[in-house]
Amino acid sequence: MNSEALFAQTVKRLRTARHLVVFTGAGISAQSGISTFRDPSTGLWARYDPKELATPAAFAKDPALVWAWYSWRRTLVNEAQPNAAHLAVARLAQCLPLVTIITQNVDDLLERAGSKEVIHLHGDLASARCFQCNRPYLGPLPVGVGEDCDSLEPPRCAHCNGQVRPNVVWFGEGMPEQELDQAFTAARDCDVMLSIGTSGNVYPAARIPTLAAEHGAWLVHINIESIGAASDKTLVGDATQWLPRLVDAFA
Ligand code: OAD
Repeated sequence: MNSEALFAQTVKRLRTARHLVVFTGAGISAQSGISTFRDPSTGLWARYDPKELATPAAFAKDPALVWAWYSWRRTLVNEAQPNAAHLAVARLAQCLPLVTIITQNVDDLLERAGSKEVIHLHGDLASARCFQCNRPYLGPLPVGVGEDCDSLEPPRCAHCNGQVRPNVVWFGEGMPEQELDQAFTAARDCDVMLSIGTSGNVYPAARIPTLAAEHGAWLVHINIESIGAASDKTLVGDATQWLPRLVDAFA
């Protein structure tokens, strides 16, 4: 099916949808100037080694390096603005009886565009917790940190004096159980799923679209390239183009 035929079919499905799940990855924030992870030239993992920055062992080895890197990323997010795709997701939620929004992103651009109750599977840059006792850290978090900053001492936990870490999921760590459970339940229940700007490389989050399809949902990817199995349906192109068009057509 070409993209225009798929677009028309998807509008039709949305008109009668009982439960829509919007599942997002880094690509939805690309047009806001936030780098994706796996773009071969600009992706974060093309420029940085996740083993040095995004594992518990990396933080144990050099907490100031890891804290500086996440503080830089928080700074970028704070300076970015939600784009037309984030805004379209918020509008979709107003037009349908039940919409569940699930993201792998650690930014808050969906919320700043007006979406409520976003399920964050990989944590968020706006909060932090103790590396030692896991209690939330309630103090201020650094912003205004440049990419060139490679050392920033993390604050200390008020309870146990442990070092404070970003509240994100690192490689080798499990996802937050409640969020994962909510996401899997929604995937099994929905009748339409839009999977937007994700390469589907990181499990268990990548199970969510296939789970929805296995349970009979109309699954459509929106991505600048065709992804998934050959039988998967993809609206090929920029999320900031497709999503506003989709909302305009069916709202
Ligand atoms: P990736 O960087 O793996 O994939 C981004 C996807 O977005 C790719 O498939 C791109 O083709 C697509 N894309 C880029 N720009 C787009 C645009 N303007 N419109 C539509 N699609 C676009 O990012 P994720 O799939 O989100 O985990 O990565 C999953 C996880 O891997 C992240 O949450 C992160 C990372 O390691 C953790 O940090 C735990």
